[in-house]
Amino acid sequence: MRTIDCDFFVVGSGMAGLMSALHLSKVGKVVLATKRGLADCNTNFAQGGICCVMDPEDSLDAHVADTLVAGAGLCDEKVVRRIVGEARAGIDDLIACGVEFARGADGRWDLGREGGHGARRILHAGDITGEKCETAMIDALRHHPEIEVHENSAVIDLLVTRRLGVRGPNRCIGAYVLDTVTNEICAVRAAETILATGGCGKVYLYTCNPDTATGDGIAIAWRAGARIENMEFIQFHPTCLYHPKAKRFLISEAVRGEGAILVDRQGEPFMQRYDARGSLAPRDIVARAIDSEMKRTGAPYCCLDIRAKGRTFLRRRFPNIYGKCLEFGIDMARDLIPIVPAAHYCCGGVKATVDGRTSLPGLSAVGETACTGLHGANRLASNSLMEALVTARLTARRLASHATAGRPRIPIPDWKTGRAVAPDEAVLVAHMWDEIRRLMWDYVGIVRTDRRLARALHRIKTLRREIREYYFDYLVTPDTLELRNLAVCAELIVRSAQRRHESRGLHYTLDYPGQVAHPHPTVLPGFPVRSRTEYS
Ligand code: SIN
Repeated sequence: MRTIDCDFFVVGSGMAGLMSALHLSKVGKVVLATKRGLADCNTNFAQGGICCVMDPEDSLDAHVADTLVAGAGLCDEKVVRRIVGEARAGIDDLIACGVEFARGADGRWDLGREGGHGARRILHAGDITGEKCETAMIDALRHHPEIEVHENSAVIDLLVTRRLGVRGPNRCIGAYVLDTVTNEICAVRAAETILATGGCGKVYLYTCNPDTATGDGIAIAWRAGARIENMEFIQFHPTCLYHPKAKRFLISEAVRGEGAILVDRQGEPFMQRYDARGSLAPRDIVARAIDSEMKRTGAPYCCLDIRAKGRTFLRRRFPNIYGKCLEFGIDMARDLIPIVPAAHYCCGGVKATVDGRTSLPGLSAVGETACTGLHGANRLASNSLMEALVTARLTARRLASHATAGRPRIPIPDWKTGRAVAPDEAVLVAHMWDEIRRLMWDYVGIVRTDRRLARALHRIKTLRREIREYYFDYLVTPDTLELRNLAVCAELIVRSAQRRHESRGLHYTLDYPGQVAHPHPTVLPGFPVRSRTEYS
């Protein structure tokens, strides 16, 4: 088995991963692994943009205040202030990569607005902000041939010293990695491992996330003993296009920021009945209102109405959304746009500081994989790419001082296949995959109850046992790795939801509709890594 040595092992190629790699390459050897192609990540699909206070009329305090309100009492204010305060430096990092954010005819930033924001503070590049950023960062990466990039490389599990039989405190020293093209397994041995694998939207049947969002970083960190926080707070984006042929296409919240209103299928507005802020209320409220309207009327979808803005504006401001809707026979300037809520963002994750430190030495987490305390119980729109930029920047700064600490020299045992044989029952994987996603949607969705959560946990535990048997009976494949991670995330979400006896932010339960006076984050300890345990 090949062992690759480096100072920094970055896992993931969205904004948090690429930015981490670019910063860290200045201080040590970086290896970056991503399970598909570089651009196969959530960042690439971000439409709305990136929050940053750019308008002299706006202020950092106002942005902090909006973030705290959306976070419903669970944000860590110090973290919010730090990240909001560093956002401008993060934006400059992107501009240095060549990203051009939109400006008006007068040359000033063309700032967008989204739900929960009291001011226009969203930098965007049309309605394909994520794609523009991802392309620019990948171009920048190509100018750094010293960064060793491994595409089609899926992390199986982290290498931790206790499992390797090394005495002393547990420490992460890299990971076993599967080359998904050759099926070879190698080890990456690193002084520091940085998880930037995004979220776990695929745990739900309906999601606007790409197929890669299977919660890999959260699951492998948990299996290595790292602490996980706030997994019950899954954000459902209120407005995913509802069309039989549209797979996970988002109608950006920026569309509501420019005046679209939520209406029923007859064109009647309904949001004022739920919140005085109407269609621009925070996402948790809007998603629940849509869910409630759909349940009340039996309609399979609600609609967005932005016809008043006219064709010229819509084509200029939302060229991608306008074009995509037309492909599906929907003319935004003339028709209502059918929408449904879908899983979008994981506000919880691997507990980490703003500079990426997790509870497991040698392991950092950045971007959506991490739970820093910025989002609390509900993320403010467009705060996520900002967090990815800032956590990557601050983590690299902290780790720079470790570069001289030296690479680990602990021998890594060969990957053992044991009695495993080539899989010949892929149908089992497909079935378990579908079952998890369906039960999470039905039992652990926008509105929860104790009874549904208990049912979900029961099923997930059985599924995890079956997955474990399958995992040990058959040689690892990309599908089994994703399934195993998805099941762990599903269980972490359910167990976190069961611990919260109140309705707060994105966690809404009919059994506890009120709120407790002194809320705490939900902490789940990592899987106990006691001693030598076989990896395979
Ligand atoms: C959107 O464009 O609506 C998504 C923005 C976000 O989730 O931050």
